[in-house]
Amino acid sequence: MTNNITIIGLQWGDEGKGKLTDFYSKDAAAVVRFQGGNNAGHTVIIDGQAYKFNLLPTGILQGKLAVIGSGVVLNMSRIIEEINDLRKSLSVSFDGILISENASLIIPGIHPEMDAIQEKANGNASVGTTGRGNGPAYMDKAGRFTIKAGDLLSLETLPIKVEKLLFLHNAIRRGLNEKEIKAEDILNYLKKCGEILSPYIGNVSQRLYDIKKAGGQIVFEGAQGSMLDIDHGSFPMVTSSNTIAAQVSIGAGVPPSELGFVLGIVKAYTTRVGEGSFPTELTDTTGEYLRTAGAEFGVTTGRPRRCGWLDTAIIARSAYLSGVNGITVTKLDVLDELSEIQVCTKYKINDQSPPFLFDAKDEVLQKAIPIYTTLKGWKTSTKGLKDISKLPLNARRYLDFIEKQINVPIISISTGPERLETIEIAKPIL
Ligand code: GDP
Ligand code: IMO
Ligand code: MG
Repeated sequence: MTNNITIIGLQWGDEGKGKLTDFYSKDAAAVVRFQGGNNAGHTVIIDGQAYKFNLLPTGILQGKLAVIGSGVVLNMSRIIEEINDLRKSLSVSFDGILISENASLIIPGIHPEMDAIQEKANGNASVGTTGRGNGPAYMDKAGRFTIKAGDLLSLETLPIKVEKLLFLHNAIRRGLNEKEIKAEDILNYLKKCGEILSPYIGNVSQRLYDIKKAGGQIVFEGAQGSMLDIDHGSFPMVTSSNTIAAQVSIGAGVPPSELGFVLGIVKAYTTRVGEGSFPTELTDTTGEYLRTAGAEFGVTTGRPRRCGWLDTAIIARSAYLSGVNGITVTKLDVLDELSEIQVCTKYKINDQSPPFLFDAKDEVLQKAIPIYTTLKGWKTSTKGLKDISKLPLNARRYLDFIEKQINVPIISISTGPERLETIEIAKPIL
């Protein structure tokens, strides 16, 4: 049986996946991103120093091999910046970086610009994307004219691929009176990035297979959250990749049996960035309190996150879709000062109780009326606690209530942003 760990966000992103991936990478041989791109923003804090990542898996802070799988859309400028920043700030040495030759590229000048064009065209129905070009890069991948990281290693065929890519992009741009993109500029950019990144580009599937054969552990770091999954989330207000655990297999090139322990990350309340329905959103002073106490501002775009009560109707559904074996509840400390806490456990939609695996499309969620249970707060600081026995009784009751609603055991609790502000209850072992 595999000892791998798959880490998945069960809400709308920003659950604390980055912190927990670092935490659970201590014994790993490799840490892998398998979907998304630099729309993700993951923060880890170690001894007061904040490390912010968009692309590199946070387990690199534990000195592990950092892997970018073929399911990722890769902005090379951003990963080069991240590598350089890390070299400057990191006191531990790291074990290398491997980028899948099959990762599709996000090209500055093409994809972020197309993202902005699409958002503008959507007008009032815009998604509120991060503007990083994810959607257009996945469109090019599905359209089969994407440029892949490995293409940078074959300079003879690269010009033809760039022509093919620009044929379509420039046709769209002409139609919208946007300036056309010159093939030469893109080629020069790609060659420059290729010179820097070529030592890192290789065969991810084979490397992960070799690690498995040698008995090594692999941690898979999810980006975004299950409600942003393009098939199963709040479509069309979603990201452009699959974010649930099944994507690990496709985006990293490992069989489904290699996912190992699937750890679902749940923030103790709910946040959402960008547009779209949010049944438990709080637009009052409690929402403002959560935003301030939880420092809920996006890592990638700096946008304030919308805040609301915990919603176990979506979490239970997400946990099922990813086959979650255990849960980490994060940011419990943010609730410390509240005297009452509400939890939505189910919805009424059109006066009916929807099924457990309700259709989560945006147009359906717009009609969802949350049914709440009110629990007592604990009004005591849990900040930085590492020992479960020190948790106030009402905090334990809150966690017990969540566990019961989701029917998955809580294996750890995060009580602060620091790596070690974590209570471990059980090991992530199948
Ligand atoms: P991710 O996208 O899921 O990795 O989450 P983000 O890093 O975008 O957002 C989580 C934020 O909460 C980061 O700023 C973390 O430093 C911080 N954080 C993580 N866990 C905790 C916690 O238990 N308590 C508090 N107060 N902050 C936390
Ligand atoms: P992490 O990994 C929260 C949201 C955007 C927008 C929608 C589509 O940090 O949890 P996109 O740029 O992907 O086309 O935007 O998805 N979104 C996120 N929200 N956390 C993220 O990542 C997100 N990545 C994308 O705000 O609503
Ligand atoms: Mg984030």
